[in-house]
Amino acid sequence: MVDNETHPGGNKDYWQDDTVKKYEYQQALTSEKKAERLSLIVRMIQHFCNMNSISSPSILDIGCGPGSATTLSKYLLEGIPECSVIGIDSSEQMLEAAASRLCAEYGDRFSGYKANFNNLDFWKPEIDREYNFIVSFASMHYLSDKRIKPFLKEIYEHIVDNGAFIAAIGNHSDGRRIAEMEHLFRIEFGYNQLEESRRPPDFQAFKARHEETDKKADINWHSPEKWLQSIRGAGFEEVDIVFHLLLSSVFLALK
Ligand SMILES: C[S@@+](CC[C@H](N)C(=O)[O-])C[C@H]1O[C@@H](n2cnc3c(N)ncnc32)[C@H](O)[C@@H]1O
Repeated sequence: MVDNETHPGGNKDYWQDDTVKKYEYQQALTSEKKAERLSLIVRMIQHFCNMNSISSPSILDIGCGPGSATTLSKYLLEGIPECSVIGIDSSEQMLEAAASRLCAEYGDRFSGYKANFNNLDFWKPEIDREYNFIVSFASMHYLSDKRIKPFLKEIYEHIVDNGAFIAAIGNHSDGRRIAEMEHLFRIEFGYNQLEESRRPPDFQAFKARHEETDKKADINWHSPEKWLQSIRGAGFEEVDIVFHLLLSSVFLALK
């Protein structure tokens, strides 16, 4: 839970098998107000399309996940009928799930590619172009410390003028006691989401299991301020947090 200047990045091997199969269930237990945050991102893209007369926005979704009902790619394809989405993920299984769901429903408006943002060869020829919007939901906090700044700069360089970077990124307070409270509230949220019959009587045991799973995924925790600074440092003209709740903020950065 302590900021670590040499974090190697999340464990990309975590995102397979049961984690893919039970993705929606796991999100329902861990991601408070996810639907509200996803809808806000869609709404902001619609707003900037209207402001800048963009009729068919191209969108790159980093860490797109399995394309199920509560993922960002799904919300974008459903909410912005004229858009096309390229989804990127380091997990083959996530991409297979996304392609089978989203290509079946939206045809060639969705395509997925495998790439790892902690590697220098992230920008494969298939995706190495400019986009109106680059977005990400619950994925950028798996960046390594070494890649945070360079990758944000690469994102900036792959966005057209007047385009935007919009990302929901996990973070916690710099204040130890506040961070502890934020983490506790997230676990309590999951506990309360469980049907009573599935809720273990011992909250401490549930908490320990939750912390064990979190450790496996290995989020690179930083404060919202640190993310703001890093995104500003990439060159964006206007950057702010437009939604914040406990361990997650939605950042909006305009080029
Ligand atoms: C919490 S899920 C978010 C999925 C989706 N964006 C959503 O809206 O629910 C995090 C995703 O980031 C991907 N991921 C983790 N590390 C990555 C990396 N180094 N490069 C690319 N994707 C990564 C995982 O495979 C997983 O699909």
